[in-house]
Amino acid sequence: MPAFTASAPGKIILFGEHAVVYGRPAIAVPVVQVRARAVVSPEPRGEPGSVHIQAPAIALDARLSDLSPDHPIAAAVTAVFNRLGVSRPPACNLRITSTIPVAAGLGSGAAVSVAIIRALSAFLGQPLADEEVSKLAFEIEKLHHGTPSGIDNTVITYAMPVYFMRGQPIESLHVSQPFSLVIGDSGIASPTALAVGDVRRLWREHTRHYETLFDAVGEISRRARRAIEHGETEALGPLMNANHDLLREIGVSSAELDRLVVAALEAGALGAKLSGGGRGGNMIALAAADLAPGIARSLEAAGAVRTIISRVE
Ligand code: MEV
Repeated sequence: MPAFTASAPGKIILFGEHAVVYGRPAIAVPVVQVRARAVVSPEPRGEPGSVHIQAPAIALDARLSDLSPDHPIAAAVTAVFNRLGVSRPPACNLRITSTIPVAAGLGSGAAVSVAIIRALSAFLGQPLADEEVSKLAFEIEKLHHGTPSGIDNTVITYAMPVYFMRGQPIESLHVSQPFSLVIGDSGIASPTALAVGDVRRLWREHTRHYETLFDAVGEISRRARRAIEHGETEALGPLMNANHDLLREIGVSSAELDRLVVAALEAGALGAKLSGGGRGGNMIALAAADLAPGIARSLEAAGAVRTIISRVE
């Protein structure tokens, strides 16, 4: 029995985070410079049914049976077994590695789930189709944070730009004119679950106000979609700035993210905003290709611990 490897990219939300949890549209794109990888190999001398899991980045080296069932990695493995009706898998070793920063808004949890689901289902001789992979990864996302919209598992499974609305069929997005983004990591770990939970509390307390904010974000996503499809890249900058202002009002920005956004704009970015759950994690800046390296340097000078230049096409 051979070993099986699968990988999945990171992602960023271009427009519409948080509002997408409340049914408004959002736009996300894959970030292929970072990836999660899963390798499943047979353990010929192992007991049938035993699964050894190694994830060095989080110091995990354990048997599946020793992990809590709602541990996200254990849950992904068990979800595959249940979906495929496998009760006693051949003894195997699952090794997970990832270059996607954790709790940074880059979709690390969903990418790890997608890589595991793909590698394990292939190892078991029943590779799952993208739709099934995304569906299972969504179930695991619910463990990471209770009310995910489903955008992370979708963009990461299909690895293409998506225009996403909760509960609707996936819509790919045609990028007429490729554009460059600079992604700047504030270095502050911020689990999506906390930001999403806080926004839910605020939404419960001030429902009318939050619904208005989400409507405004949704309108920005709709306009951004038209601009991307018509190749009107310059129109995206002001839309990003407006989306960032709304995210500040929603209460998910931070002094560090605001500082990085200002630094990017001062360095010539066409627009900038936080991306993902917020509070920490990453921000993105829209950049003319020749200015992107300089904007990345300015972000580092303003405190970004890492920058990635990514082309959206
Ligand atoms: C996380 O990448 C985006 C959020 O909108 C949460 C979600 O959509 O599940 C903050």
